[in-house]
Amino acid sequence: MATTGAEESVRTAMEKAGLGGGVLQAKYSRRVLISDIIGRPDGGEGLVGEKVVVGGWVKTGREQGKGSFAFLEVNDGSCPANLQVLVESEVFPLSQITATGSCVMVRGELKQPPEGTKQKVEMKVDKVLEVGTIDPSKYPIAKTKLSMEHLRSFVHLRPRTNTISAVARIRHALAYATHTFFHKNKFLYVQTPIVTTSDCEGAGEMFQVTTLFSEAEKLERELKENPPSTEADIEAAKLLVKERGERVSDLKSNKADKALISAAVSELQKAKDQLLKMEERSKLKAGIAMKDGKIDFSRDFFARQAFLTVSGQLQVETYACALSSVYTFGPTFRAENSHTSRHLAEFWMVEPEIAFADLEDDMNCAEDYVKFLCQWLLDNCLDDMQFMAKMYDKTAIDRLRSVATTSFARISYTEAVQLLEKVTEKKFENKVEWGIDLASEHERYLTEEIFKKPVIVYNYPKTIKAFYMRLNDDNKTVAAMDVLVPKVGELIGGSQREERCEVIERRIEEMGLPKEPYEWYLDLRRFGTVKHAGFGLGFERMVLFATGLENIRDVIPFPRYPGKADL
Ligand code: 4AD
Ligand code: MG
Repeated sequence: MATTGAEESVRTAMEKAGLGGGVLQAKYSRRVLISDIIGRPDGGEGLVGEKVVVGGWVKTGREQGKGSFAFLEVNDGSCPANLQVLVESEVFPLSQITATGSCVMVRGELKQPPEGTKQKVEMKVDKVLEVGTIDPSKYPIAKTKLSMEHLRSFVHLRPRTNTISAVARIRHALAYATHTFFHKNKFLYVQTPIVTTSDCEGAGEMFQVTTLFSEAEKLERELKENPPSTEADIEAAKLLVKERGERVSDLKSNKADKALISAAVSELQKAKDQLLKMEERSKLKAGIAMKDGKIDFSRDFFARQAFLTVSGQLQVETYACALSSVYTFGPTFRAENSHTSRHLAEFWMVEPEIAFADLEDDMNCAEDYVKFLCQWLLDNCLDDMQFMAKMYDKTAIDRLRSVATTSFARISYTEAVQLLEKVTEKKFENKVEWGIDLASEHERYLTEEIFKKPVIVYNYPKTIKAFYMRLNDDNKTVAAMDVLVPKVGELIGGSQREERCEVIERRIEEMGLPKEPYEWYLDLRRFGTVKHAGFGLGFERMVLFATGLENIRDVIPFPRYPGKADL
């Protein structure tokens, strides 16, 4: 039924207030989202009497009244809560829709549930429109509480669980918040390459991108099916060229008919082409292309060695040095053989880069951004956060509140080492002394025990940090900063960049890195150099921090780590 503009605006205002005013139809799907029913401020009470269609997967189904009706808890992923749906046995065979994991699309009326029920509204079905049945004995994630580790073997089905779907909504919220924060602060989103030829961190932890192996396999197969010409074949082909060449000469010297000569020339050309092809094929060898005893990358897809990026920083700097404030947000890859609960081989990173900025600006941006993310989750994802707090980490919501509102501590690396050296109540596995790369146990002690809030540690020894970080006047430290947070340790790594060409050239040399791949990066310093700074936030570490989950493998949809790359 058509509505007038006035009717529509009254309806919208009422909906906003959560006071009835009719249901919101989902766009691009012929149903109502469950979040638009029970996610309203009135819990859906104002919609009693409305006829709706909903779709979702059955969380639990209970036959009651000696099989005369069933209650289904249905979830469509739009919110953590389920809609309770009542189906009578005359409407549909109950056994087909009560098993956990069944999919249903049902039509019915929203009703007031009996007194004392938790829900403000339930649905009485008059028609089951569609069903996706299930064999409960074969469904790998049927009801019983399954460990997160077990669920990792079913990455294709685990989004159906309460935890993974809450994580998905939280991830979405954090991604949206990220774009909102940077957009509001006038940063441009720049897409940096995933395939790269430079090693940003210089740590040699890159996955190689190559077609040499598949090409070698293809060739091997091809040579088996169609073996190259033998010496004798080639000799015969050479003889044919010779004979046809002689025939052309004969015809020419006998001043033969033009058409005859041209036909003979064409035959000669054919024989020459054939010989060339045979000679080329005879040179083909099975195996990887080699030159001077080394793999010949000039024969690879990109005609040089290429890798999956470990960070978009170097490339995004090119845009910062032209457009001022920019950021990249994309997947990054590290072939480090870490089996910890904080490392993935494929993870997402948010990397802002700011021109005309120093280390302090960088720290201010990092702190504001993290606070913004925490506040965003409180404002937009409270129901999912409540679920996380109930199931996994009672302190999760308080942690968000406190981070959103308290200033981060800021200490130099030297001060951090001094503080850790004084610690007596805990014995660290890794010895603390000036010059060490702080281990996760040190980072967590600083943030969890000493400060009990996020800590930014800055000015690290140059020997443990990347070549691009700005050298401080003491010649010993660089203008680096790491943001450490409770539960996770390092959440952010960043720095002011070395903008002085001669200094960065020296650093590349000192660190034993090849200069050639960084020539373009040095150009940014040769032509119109600018003070600039940036950082990288590990997106999954942020999700870990927010949710309080224990393992990073559970906060990315498709985790990749040594020995695992399902789907
Ligand atoms: O400290 P990292 O290595 O810094 C960089 O890559 C810089 N180029 C960033 C920049 O300045 N633009 O990595 C940044 C963050 C870390 O603080 C951590 O949160 C996360 O990325 N990270 C990982 N997250 C999951 N798995 C891994 N293997 C990670 N390695 C780093
Ligand atoms: Mg780091």
